[in-house]
Amino acid sequence: MKSFLLFCSLLMLGASPQQPAAPDAAPAKIPAADAAMVNPTKPNPLVMAHAKKMYGYDCAVCHGANGNGKGDVGAGMTPPLKDWTDPAALKDMTDGELFYIIKNGRGQMTGEGDRVKTEDLWAMVVMVRGFAKK
Ligand code: HEC
Repeated sequence: MKSFLLFCSLLMLGASPQQPAAPDAAPAKIPAADAAMVNPTKPNPLVMAHAKKMYGYDCAVCHGANGNGKGDVGAGMTPPLKDWTDPAALKDMTDGELFYIIKNGRGQMTGEGDRVKTEDLWAMVVMVRGFAKK
């Protein structure tokens, strides 16, 4: 019964049906071709400003306004979200993987899907990387 309730609350958090998000489930595998994708765009300041705005609406609630993973919802999540201000946090992930996750979601995160233009998704990848303290 307890696990059923947990399952329901995960569903409400927006886990997609293809990826039932048991807290201890191994992360869904990202296809190699997607992981190898390289950012084909050079986001200009206008696109970056737009990405920043969308981040505020769709992402900051979990990942935090400065990317530290301590947004209102994110702060209470298990396992804890990564702190992107730490340069080590994303060093083992490719841009393609970040793009794939932002588009398709993963585990407890719902992706942007087709609502967001490809160009804007890449701008979000650049933005997410940009949170790391130099
Ligand atoms: C409901 C909370 C939530 C929201 C909203 C959310 N995410 Fe996530 N995000 C997560 C969780 C949880 C993970 C870890 C997923 C996993 O690996 O199981 C994650 C992972 C990621 C990753 C992969 C790197 C990492 O830290 O694991 C990126 C990139 C990312 N999110 C970007 C975004 C962007 C951009 C948005 C807004 C469009 C967004 N997220 C919205 C919860 C969220």
